[in-house]
Amino acid sequence: MSPFETLNSQSDVSPPLHRVVLAPEKRLHIDYLINPTQPSEVGPDSGQDAVVGLSRSPKSLPPHYFYDDRGSQLFEQICELPEYYLTRTETRILQTYAQEIAGLTGPCELVELGSGSATKTRILLDACAVLGYPLRYLPIDVSGGILESSAYQLLNDYPTLQVHGLVSTYELGLQQLGPSPLDTRMICFLGSTLGNLTPEECHLFFSQIRAALQPGEYFLLGVDLQKPKALLEAAYNDSQGVTAAFNLNMLSHLNWRFRGNFDLEQFEHVAFYNEQQHQIEIYLRSLRSQTVTLQSLDLTVTFAAGETILSEISRKFDLTAISQELATLDLVPVHTWTDPQNWFGLVLCQFGTNSRWQSY
Ligand code: TRP
Repeated sequence: MSPFETLNSQSDVSPPLHRVVLAPEKRLHIDYLINPTQPSEVGPDSGQDAVVGLSRSPKSLPPHYFYDDRGSQLFEQICELPEYYLTRTETRILQTYAQEIAGLTGPCELVELGSGSATKTRILLDACAVLGYPLRYLPIDVSGGILESSAYQLLNDYPTLQVHGLVSTYELGLQQLGPSPLDTRMICFLGSTLGNLTPEECHLFFSQIRAALQPGEYFLLGVDLQKPKALLEAAYNDSQGVTAAFNLNMLSHLNWRFRGNFDLEQFEHVAFYNEQQHQIEIYLRSLRSQTVTLQSLDLTVTFAAGETILSEISRKFDLTAISQELATLDLVPVHTWTDPQNWFGLVLCQFGTNSRWQSY
């Protein structure tokens, strides 16, 4: 869920807007660090980022506009598509190695960035439970609704689990992490969401992770790996058209949010692999010359026939190169895992200079 935007105009460490302690048995605490019901005048909720992106040449839109209710549903559907191997492959790697991961970290609080429906979290929690560890989970997500509903289900299924949720952007949530209630902590960033950041954003993100960790604590990263173009392009151009609907939904989202008149019939989904940059690039392409107005933003945009809006990049990684980059930032790889086809990778890093850097 639109993780990288700072909804608050400033990101100083400040007390939560409010804290909710909820049954059952006071095992659930949620701190709301952002208030999604009161959009700020600046920041992503104001729509100014759409104005900037659509006024630029070439045009672009911030990826958080993918995620209104329908967008979130469509994304769940993407994860189930036969061509979209990412979710399935990462899940299988976790299923195979979760106990090994838990064995390496010892009892730890699981912090998850972009918790979503928490399916993968369960695999890690199960592994901790088998090893007899206390179960602590700290999800960070901008969507309070998703965070609450997945927390309730987890509490129901894990009778000893304690959940402390942060409704927050990643940046703010990472700044607000107190000391871990257990011996150590593991921040999990799965689903190759890292690939949706530019290299510069990625670097900044790693420094935020590092700042949130104490020496010896862990960072578990899931990344999609470089592979033949045809496989990658199929994953972002599925035969059922779900990805196209997801991309085009961004325009409906702008229509209802900002009283716009995008005609979805007049745009098409385009996604291809840029082999030089090792990234999938996802665009909305105007099928003809046209003018679109977003009334609440006081914005009129003209499109030439064939003109594109960049809606997302999805970078594909080399496991050795990303491990080396992490090591230079003192996030030292302890171990990496892949699937038999080497399609997807997991890297477990430990913060601090004294950690081991084993073979990977
Ligand atoms: N993090 C996902 C990825 O890079 C996001 C994603 C999947 C996506 N399918 C998409 C974004 C289609 C835009 C369009 O794979």
